[in-house]
Amino acid sequence: MSSKVVDLFKLWLLFSSWVFSVSATVSYDSKAIVINGSRRILLSGSIHYPRSTPEMWPDLIAKAKEGGLDVIQTYVFWNGHEPSPGNYYFEDRYDLVRFFKLVQHAGLYVHLRIGPYICAEWNFGGFPVWLKYVPGIVFRTDNEPFKAAMQNFTEKIVSMMKAEMLLETQGGPIIMSQIENEFGPVEWEIGDPGKAYTKWAVKMAVGLDTGVPWVMCKQDDAPDPVINTCNGFYCENFTPNAKYKPKMWTENWTGWYTGFGSAVPTRPAEDIAFSVARFIQNGGSFVNYYMYHGGTNFGRTSGGPFVATSYDYDAPIDEYGQLREPKWGHLRDLHRAIKLCEPALVSAYPTVTSLGSNQEAHVFSSKSGACAAFLANYDNKYSVNVTFGNAQYELPRWSISILPDCKTTVFNTARLGAQSSEKQMLSVTAAFSWQSYNEERPSADDQNVTVHDGLWEQIFITRDASDYLWYMTNVNIDPSEGFLKSGQDPLLTIWSAGHALHVFINGQLSGTVYGGLENPKLTFSNNVKLSPGINKISLLSVAVGLPNVGTHFETWNAGVLGPVTLNGLNEGTRNISNQKWSYKIGLKGEALNLYTIAGSSSVEWAEGSILMKRQPLTWYKTTFDAPGGDEPLGIDMSSMGKGQVWINGQSIGRHWPGYIARGGCGACDYAGTYTDKKCQTNCGEPSQRWYHVPRSWLKPSGNFLVVFEEWGGDPNGIALAKRTTTSVRATDIFEGKAMMKKQGMLIQKVGTHFETWNAGVLGHVTLNGLNEGTRDISKQKWSYKVC
Ligand code: GAL
Repeated sequence: MSSKVVDLFKLWLLFSSWVFSVSATVSYDSKAIVINGSRRILLSGSIHYPRSTPEMWPDLIAKAKEGGLDVIQTYVFWNGHEPSPGNYYFEDRYDLVRFFKLVQHAGLYVHLRIGPYICAEWNFGGFPVWLKYVPGIVFRTDNEPFKAAMQNFTEKIVSMMKAEMLLETQGGPIIMSQIENEFGPVEWEIGDPGKAYTKWAVKMAVGLDTGVPWVMCKQDDAPDPVINTCNGFYCENFTPNAKYKPKMWTENWTGWYTGFGSAVPTRPAEDIAFSVARFIQNGGSFVNYYMYHGGTNFGRTSGGPFVATSYDYDAPIDEYGQLREPKWGHLRDLHRAIKLCEPALVSAYPTVTSLGSNQEAHVFSSKSGACAAFLANYDNKYSVNVTFGNAQYELPRWSISILPDCKTTVFNTARLGAQSSEKQMLSVTAAFSWQSYNEERPSADDQNVTVHDGLWEQIFITRDASDYLWYMTNVNIDPSEGFLKSGQDPLLTIWSAGHALHVFINGQLSGTVYGGLENPKLTFSNNVKLSPGINKISLLSVAVGLPNVGTHFETWNAGVLGPVTLNGLNEGTRNISNQKWSYKIGLKGEALNLYTIAGSSSVEWAEGSILMKRQPLTWYKTTFDAPGGDEPLGIDMSSMGKGQVWINGQSIGRHWPGYIARGGCGACDYAGTYTDKKCQTNCGEPSQRWYHVPRSWLKPSGNFLVVFEEWGGDPNGIALAKRTTTSVRATDIFEGKAMMKKQGMLIQKVGTHFETWNAGVLGHVTLNGLNEGTRDISKQKWSYKVC
């Protein structure tokens, strides 16, 4: 290229970027978000970047796009980005710029929920633990140190987005932001300081001049120009706080999170589709699925406490990145139907007419002639035939039919047209060859302990550097104690704020107690063996994620706060809470980095006949080769109790298969109002048995697997498994051939070369678990019947 041509090219680039930047706008009106002058019906899905690996991101985003989404919504994870004050981290799973650029590359938008309080079942609701110890701080209220820290981080993120040209007004993908998260209920509780904080937060955020709208979810009094939005399983009756704001739904919960000890929630696809159609027919113009891909709480990132490592959420894309069918496909079909209605939806308000005692038609009819209708049957028991226009329509119970031309049903929320598939975890490795190492059981007089009179709160000491804190003390038993003769052992009672506790008396495990999702507190109350002289009491207190929700959750305690008493002595009850206690943060194995190859060589490991099994506080290590193929991998921990697992030095999370799911797992009817207790699974089984092992964390051979087991288990039961699709069923399309034809006609208006889109079972159809392994029956003789 000659230099003249280069100069001209540069000039053109400059000009076009100027034209683009002045023409790119995002605003809103009473109907919708307006992007570059056009009102849009936007379908959005939450994918939290640290809950998957960067290697998974392109595929997740592509699946979201294929599923008919326009927007990817994510929180920003402050504690991942600023692990200590002023030290920022934006690499690997926390590389949000890379994530946003991938979203942009795929042609999708971003909804950036900065928070920086995010809830999200994430450790401490996204706040760094150091924030709690800033002098004078009180979270989420009119408090200067808190506001200063919040402003600092919000500015950091916004300036980063600007520098990377990621805002839509700069030609980037970000069309909206969020400040705070569901602050309304907290404001209601704390009153005036809360109100002042809301006003401040809005002023601060709007002052950052992003050029794109801000939202506040669950914040009825969100001051202008911020849009208040709805979160919930249903939001059709929500109205924003001003006529000139659009009706938006920032969290439509596609399922619910799993807690250790809880059953696994699921939400039927039909009900999610019903809730979305109901929202849109009532004038809604933005719906976000929380979560579209839930993913994994790797390491110690889960909050709660007691939130499980899996954050699968029964989302349309499962934890492992595979399509959850028929949910994903059903919602994709819904999105196509809604998009066909978009011209009418953005230009008209609905006219509502009754079609029966529990049925309605919502009709959007624009001046330009566009017409879309939603025919709803709210009855959860009976299907009905209704007359609309000049035609009859059959409406299944608890469903909405969508008619993008006001005549033809192209989609009904209760009729699953998508394929359904079943997933299975198939073991792939030969048995691992394990070595074990016994974690030390320290006692009060050890070196390198901190001594203090009385009991200390756990997080104050650990600053969450480890789940573990040892509380150690000595108890002197006089030889004249009556129980030594009677044999009636004294009763040790320990009150703890949580979350789990292992009690060792003279080095022997005397019992384990733990709280749960509903109540993290626990009480240990056991008769214990004590001998004349000094007895060493060592309590291993274990945190299982810091709270992420609730007014002033930062003040919630963890650990042994007492009282600690011994009952049944000559003196009656001895209160040992205020005597001298020694403290030790973390495990010896953690300090030695036993989960890395280098660290593990610092201790002697046992193997073969002396391998420790079913012993508390045991480390295990092994190596293995990566299984072939590209299916996602999980590790079956069902033979173990509780602890943590590392692969090649990275923590895949806390395991706790020993916590068996309680709850009511009955039949699941899609119809009727959904709650997270309605369609539970896994009762009587571990809340979480398999733990996701990202493929990208493995090398072809010599992968280093380490398990720390608190309770005791048999490592020989641990197995690596591939997540495979074992059967695919084409789900029944309900309303008969006539409608299917019409549905086909209309739906096929969208898509490049839609005439080439296939239907039916094209395979593969496989049978797995036979002697021969997997039999592919796709190519054998098949009989067909057209009904
Ligand atoms: C919402 C919150 C989300 C998440 C969700 C439950 O109230 O905004 O962050 O915690 O509940 O999964």
